[in-house]
Amino acid sequence: MKPKDEATRSLPVGWTFFRQWLKNPLRVAAISPSSKQLARQMMTQLPKPCRRVIELGGGTGVFTQALIDQGIAPADLLVLELNEELHQHLVRQFPGAAVVCGDAGNLFEIASAHGFVGQERADAVISGLGLLSMPRQTQQAILQAAFDSLHPDGRFIQFTYGPANPVTREVIDALELTARRASFTWWNVPPATVYVYQRRVSRMMAPRSMR
Ligand SMILES: C[S@@+](CC[C@H](N)C(=O)[O-])C[C@H]1O[C@@H](n2cnc3c(N)ncnc32)[C@H](O)[C@@H]1O
Repeated sequence: MKPKDEATRSLPVGWTFFRQWLKNPLRVAAISPSSKQLARQMMTQLPKPCRRVIELGGGTGVFTQALIDQGIAPADLLVLELNEELHQHLVRQFPGAAVVCGDAGNLFEIASAHGFVGQERADAVISGLGLLSMPRQTQQAILQAAFDSLHPDGRFIQFTYGPANPVTREVIDALELTARRASFTWWNVPPATVYVYQRRVSRMMAPRSMR
């Protein structure tokens, strides 16, 4: 192992995260990892039962650990992280999970390659992505791929630092989704609100060929 890698490994993970934020604030989208309180609120929104989960933007792994603590088996977890340094951290932390260094925009291909298809699709997608700062087309591509990788009644669970729904009305209508503001916590830097997105009932009931 190179000395630089060794030095990076011994740094506190919050510092690693902060350094990645300095390099690309819009993409990393937060100056510090998510809090345990926010993780708890995200977990409260998981459907019951919940077996297979995809996490987008795993970062330092606060939500990944919370999912495992909720009883999700690492083998039923797929975690995507675009930042190489954070990806390496996640691979070391969660050896039993599929942790991919990849773009959420390519989620459908990545999820299919990892067996999240047919009956093995996900029950929930947990997202730490900064959706609010993404252009509408990028938002739509990510949500479309997420719902293609979810069971018909699966949930997309997202948090935001903004005062309003981070997914534009155009995207919600184009994908025929419902959006629900689930909870808010002051105990995060910055304070955060949790939103849950699902397919509208009529779309869930329609045969797949008509969707
Ligand atoms: C707000 S942070 C997530 C914080 C995480 N919950 C934690 O506690 O560390 C957002 C993460 O999404 C990652 N990210 C941003 N754009 C991405 C993309 N298109 N695909 C995958 N990951 C992405 C960033 O590198 C960053 O780690």
